[in-house]
Amino acid sequence: MNIIKKRARKEGYNRRGGSGKGRRPFFSFLAVIFIILVFIIPETFAVISGQCSNCHTMHNSQNGSPMATYGSTQPWGSPGPNEMLLRGTCLGCHGMGVAQKIVTIGNSKIPQVYHLDASGDLAGGNFAYITGDKGTGASDTKGHNVIELGNLDDILYWPPGKPSNHGGPNAATLSCAGNYGCHGWRVGGYSPLEGIRGAHHLNQDGQLTLADEVYNSYRFLKGVYGYENMTAGYEWQNVNSLYHNEYYGATQPFNISDPLQSGECSVCHVGGIYVEPSTHTMSGFCGTCHGMFHSLTGIGGDTSSPFTRHPTDVVLPTGGEFDAYTTYNVDAPVARTSVPAAPSSTVTSGTDVVMCLSCHVAHASDYPDLLRWDYSQITTGGSGGCLICHTGK
Ligand code: HEC
Ligand code: HEC
Ligand code: HEC
Ligand code: HEC
Ligand code: HEC
Ligand code: HEC
Repeated sequence: MNIIKKRARKEGYNRRGGSGKGRRPFFSFLAVIFIILVFIIPETFAVISGQCSNCHTMHNSQNGSPMATYGSTQPWGSPGPNEMLLRGTCLGCHGMGVAQKIVTIGNSKIPQVYHLDASGDLAGGNFAYITGDKGTGASDTKGHNVIELGNLDDILYWPPGKPSNHGGPNAATLSCAGNYGCHGWRVGGYSPLEGIRGAHHLNQDGQLTLADEVYNSYRFLKGVYGYENMTAGYEWQNVNSLYHNEYYGATQPFNISDPLQSGECSVCHVGGIYVEPSTHTMSGFCGTCHGMFHSLTGIGGDTSSPFTRHPTDVVLPTGGEFDAYTTYNVDAPVARTSVPAAPSSTVTSGTDVVMCLSCHVAHASDYPDLLRWDYSQITTGGSGGCLICHTGK
């Protein structure tokens, strides 16, 4: 049980690995970059800053009234008291339902995953498409109906692609974090805040290739590598070919069968107990719940055509239509097989890989199946969507 009780630690983290001996010119270059990043580019709010009272309340009472009011205009805005003495729940702070996708309180910036901002959404999407507060109308198929929304999925119960002989999260239990959640430690008995304890105050951004704690994992998704773009003005967003996050991918998906065999448990149960993708990839993260959509047998037995399901964590082959996809497009992003130190605006067939988030968003979109575009409107000879990669169709 020790492993699951691990707490976030500051010491011992080395973002780049390696000692870098004998690379002085390179280091001076890094020093210049560091000075530019720290002193010239304005504060990026990566780590929690500001008054404790912006986020915590000691007794949840001031002049006899509750203080835990974040998100209180929404059904999930509880008057508290909340765990860790917080002024809101996960969705209370992150889903205020207001007109801004980033809410500033004092000098704390809180990214919003449920909002009405017409100028676009953060990279994960917007749960407000599910309820119809934003977009073309309510639909449970537009997103992950986390239980915090209070609006369970009426169509799906199990995650499609779940191994047939395995339980785990379902429509009645799927949560933001903790046991049956996506963010934080995913382990039996953990509440969402227990799953994420310590992460906010230690949060790291930029290139994340350790992911042995929640705070140094991509977006608090324990075990997932990636690059978090926190350029001022573009925080938490995929804006264009120059300003976007970078996702980590591999050259083959999970090697698991349906039904699961006993030797295959550690693909998702790293260390035996908690759940994370052993491959550290974004598609593997989705695969921890939608396993058969991300398994060699599920896609057709190997990493080459013909496939029986659309592959993920396979390389865009060279010598064909994929060679023409050269400028990174945030409408069909690719994953990288090594996490870059900065966003790259190019796509390279033979190297980059297709992932679940090439076609889907993580939280919710305005289209069925959390897709980035309306699949029913994509036609041969058209543009966008599938054709960003399949340039010859
Ligand atoms: C911008 C919001 C925000 C501010 C400001 C803030 N906190 Fe927190 N704090 C959180 C959140 C969210 C959590 C719970 C989730 C987590 O730990 O990641 C938390 C957790 C904690 C915890 C328990 C987990 C841990 O890291 O040990 C302590 C103790 C804590 N905060 C103390 C403080 C103190 C003291 C201050 C002021 C110096 C402060 N916080 C300011 C948001 C904030
Ligand atoms: C913790 C488990 C879990 C993880 C991780 C997870 N999902 Fe799901 N997913 C579910 C469950 C449960 C459902 C069915 C209930 C629902 O849609 O709310 C679902 C439904 C879906 C649906 C269908 C939505 C609908 O209502 O028709 C899509 C598409 C999907 N997931 C894609 C993804 C992608 C892409 C990822 C990775 C970014 C991912 N999932 C990660 C549990 C998970
Ligand atoms: C008191 C308000 C508050 C609560 C409650 C809270 N958060 Fe946050 N959260 C913040 C703020 C402020 C930030 C931005 C600062 C940062 O990146 O640490 C943030 C950032 C994040 C991020 C982005 C981290 C990154 O990679 O940049 C995630 C993911 C997240 N929170 C998830 C959660 C989850 C899940 C919960 C519930 C278990 C939760 N938060 C509860 C205030 C809150
Ligand atoms: C494709 C990924 C994956 C594989 C492979 C996998 N599991 Fe799981 N398992 C999960 C997820 C996701 C959960 C839910 C996480 C949680 O409990 O918080 C889970 C939870 C569990 C639980 C807790 C019961 C529950 O429903 O919460 C047990 C027991 C378990 N798994 C056993 C196994 C065994 C035994 C194997 C090998 C035969 C296995 N798992 C393989 C993903 C996987
Ligand atoms: C991020 C790039 C990307 C996007 C976006 C994408 N694909 Fe693919 N697709 C691939 C790759 C890579 C392969 C594997 C090609 C190979 O190995 O021959 C593939 C293979 C296929 C195949 C052939 C399967 C086989 O058996 O050879 C079909 C059909 C297909 N995709 C359809 C689609 C459709 C329809 C969409 C839109 C819903 C789409 N793809 C979106 C990258 C992409
Ligand atoms: C090439 C684009 C593409 C990729 C990559 C992709 N999907 Fe999908 N996904 C779709 C489309 C399109 C649908 C709509 C149903 C269909 O056409 O099969 C869909 C539907 C789904 C559904 C809903 C199934 C249902 O029964 O309602 C789930 C769950 C899902 N995808 C999960 C994933 C996961 C997990 C991954 C990565 C392992 C992934 N998808 C990768 C395009 C994609």
